[in-house]
Amino acid sequence: MEQQNKEDVLILAIETSCDETAASVVKNGREVLSNVIYTQIALHTLYGGVVPEIASRKHIEKINQVIEEALRQAEVTLGDISAIAVTYGPGLVGALLVGVSEAKALSFAAGIPLVGVHHISGHISANYIEYPELEPPFVCMVASGGHSHLVVVKDYGEYEIIGRTRDDAAGEAFDKVARAIGLGYPGGPKIDRLSREGNPDAVSFPRARVAENQYDFSFSGLKSAVLNYLNSCQMKGEEINQADVAASFQKAVIDVLVEHSIHAVKEFGYDRFAIAGGVASNSSLRAAFEEQCAGQGIRFFHPSPALCTDNAAMIGAAGYYEYIKGVRHGYDLNAVPNLKLSENTSATVADKGFS
Ligand code: KG4
Ligand code: ZN
Repeated sequence: MEQQNKEDVLILAIETSCDETAASVVKNGREVLSNVIYTQIALHTLYGGVVPEIASRKHIEKINQVIEEALRQAEVTLGDISAIAVTYGPGLVGALLVGVSEAKALSFAAGIPLVGVHHISGHISANYIEYPELEPPFVCMVASGGHSHLVVVKDYGEYEIIGRTRDDAAGEAFDKVARAIGLGYPGGPKIDRLSREGNPDAVSFPRARVAENQYDFSFSGLKSAVLNYLNSCQMKGEEINQADVAASFQKAVIDVLVEHSIHAVKEFGYDRFAIAGGVASNSSLRAAFEEQCAGQGIRFFHPSPALCTDNAAMIGAAGYYEYIKGVRHGYDLNAVPNLKLSENTSATVADKGFS
């Protein structure tokens, strides 16, 4: 058994907000003792996207196994665990409910404190695992399947959103365009791979600006421009070069994410910038940020790709900082599919009257 100090805080984290059933044991917020992910991707590929009902059923089937495996790999038992952290939103309600119910049951049965975690706070906190020396404040760009946010991380669990998407999230645009050019699900990694063989300047796609807020994003116009381009090629009987379309679309997304982010970092006077979320695992995006940050004297933080896409270790990191702040949820904790990223994640708990 792993030797633990009495003062060590061990978090058992559970994440089931979408199509990954995940559990992890994280020590003192930064050290990952285990990170187990059962991915349902192959199952949903059949349908071209995540089917919520199937996701929930699969979570129920797998959750106990995944948790047992996380404890086994960490060489600990429930008796060693200081708190159970669980994603309670945002996400698919049925999927979230599986994790939340499981966490409540374990918490009740074993008498372990329960801490609800915001999924996006988890994504941002993946950076704390990758960079043990990283502390707030810094600017973070979060781009996932459901969110595209520019956030000032003021302190642990304290966020100021300075930019958000007005329509589609970046990952959603990747998924929709991948479907349109016949790549199927999951779109992001497929476009990432195919783009390496394409010319990013082959097709000129728009880079949208939002007049009211220079840090906001809009990706639905870009998605429509790709669809229009595909239609016009079809009508003219021209063959489509999938790799060129993928690379040109990807470049358009990356240009906007990079431009807005670097502008915000400089304008708000920070010298540290992090990325998070599934889209942050994109190889060209990482290279573009690397280059821009180096050129502007900004220190760039980027979790390894496996910590960018959904996992429970990131929930363990975020949960640890909530736990040491004294956040505890009661058994009335519920799944909140549209949970907002508030300025202070622990304040949300107090507002809702959770004990
Ligand atoms: O953070 P995440 O795993 O789940 C959500 O919280 O949504 O993000 C999933 C999204 C999907 O839209 C997926 O297509 C996108 O991240 N994604 C990528 C890459 N890997 C995943 N997008 C671009 N390039 C990638 N390599
Ligand atoms: Zn996510």
